[in-house]
Amino acid sequence: MSLFVRKPLQQLMEEAAEGEKGLKKTLGAGSLIALGIGAIIGAGLFSITGGAAAANAGPAITLSFVVAGLGCAFAGLCYAEFASMIPIAGSAYTYSYATMGEFMAWIIGWDLVLEYAVGAATVSISWSRYFKKFLEGFDIHLSENFMAGPWDGGIINLPAVVIVILMSLLLVRGTQESARFNAIIVTLKVAVVLIFIILGWGYINNSNYTPYIPENTGTFGEYGFSGIIRAAAIVFFAYIGFDAVSTAAQETKNPKRNMPIGILGSLAICTVLYILFAHVMTGVANYTAFKGKDGIAPVAVAIDHMGKAGADGIIIPDYPWLNRAIIVAILAGYSSVIMVLLMGQSRVFFSMSKDGLIPKVFSDVHPKFRTPAKSNLLFLVFVSLFAAFVPGRVVGEMTSIGTLFAFILVCIGVIVMRKQMPDAPRAFRTPLVPLVPILGVATCLFMMVFLPGDTWLRLIIWMAIGIVIYFLYSKKHSKLQNKN
Ligand code: ALA
Repeated sequence: MSLFVRKPLQQLMEEAAEGEKGLKKTLGAGSLIALGIGAIIGAGLFSITGGAAAANAGPAITLSFVVAGLGCAFAGLCYAEFASMIPIAGSAYTYSYATMGEFMAWIIGWDLVLEYAVGAATVSISWSRYFKKFLEGFDIHLSENFMAGPWDGGIINLPAVVIVILMSLLLVRGTQESARFNAIIVTLKVAVVLIFIILGWGYINNSNYTPYIPENTGTFGEYGFSGIIRAAAIVFFAYIGFDAVSTAAQETKNPKRNMPIGILGSLAICTVLYILFAHVMTGVANYTAFKGKDGIAPVAVAIDHMGKAGADGIIIPDYPWLNRAIIVAILAGYSSVIMVLLMGQSRVFFSMSKDGLIPKVFSDVHPKFRTPAKSNLLFLVFVSLFAAFVPGRVVGEMTSIGTLFAFILVCIGVIVMRKQMPDAPRAFRTPLVPLVPILGVATCLFMMVFLPGDTWLRLIIWMAIGIVIYFLYSKKHSKLQNKN
């Protein structure tokens, strides 16, 4: 059989209907929006924003958020159509299987490991940095050897491993439990962002916005127009996760209605929060103040600027407690990002395993908890290794490039789907097809081009490994290929 064998929509629907035997249906629209926000607001906003403002965009970082948000909005509209049509755990992987055939489906499923598993590792590394700050607040100083990987000045990043283990175990326990945990954290996280925006608004100093777009230094990506776009590609990481909602389709009640609400709702809420956050952050403190700081930097720096200058000209912060409260909220907030990304990962592999493309162990459902527990545990090991040893920048950029690639394929998929199955029922239709998907492809590709060459190389190597596995294992074991 050919590489382009497509999985019939009818068969997909039958599999979705099999719910009783498989994953438990517990999630409604509210939980899905919370799941989305749980995965979205994290290291991108709380860690990456400051550096991108300082080095690339200046106050125009707000515009970078608009650009990255636009790309995600186009992709989100495409995801929503698919999710309302094919409510199955595999998300983008499953959509491609029905539209572009098995090989493309494999490519996208393999690529999603970068978004979900490697993304979870990225956030756990940032979690570890905040954890260090948190302990330092109590004058506890652990050896750097155990707080960072070998390329980041240590030997092994143990806190990152611990948080990955905890979140994986929670996932094994059950989707409903995980969703409850997530809902509490999301409330806390959104509250912190809102407090920051509301308190900070009063301290905005308009002079910090001039020049709004600092002049390009002569180096590509350092301020000016190219700086805004490079910063967009960097802060794009902050948006990753809204699509993880679609991986929970088989655990959702009335998915045809609730899926689009979950995907687009969480994305819309986060976009508005991000733009306001970036505006306040660069209004309260000059963008140059965020230079050379990592970890807690942007939020802490901005909060330190919310006060009145003392006799010596040094600002006395009005809310010194806010920094400590924010660290706790951020630690909790990151943990939900890690959890939802890990959940997305195991659900994509669940579907791929059901189709025979990867071993059966990834779709074994735990008899009591009814979660893909073994898969969760295998990813626990895989993600822990990345978290323990790989540098944060490397995993972060791999996550972004992998996700942008997945978004592009989903946008193309909608156009293909409209041609192949124009009459299949869809509860949600992407508006203005093919314009919206084309704009989605263009914006995401544009951002990809602005990522460094070594990141491209890693993407190519990762995909090459995937292609070898496909021909050595998946093609031979595919249930669809071996049906006849
Ligand atoms: N969007 C998620 C974050 O920023 C991955 O942490």
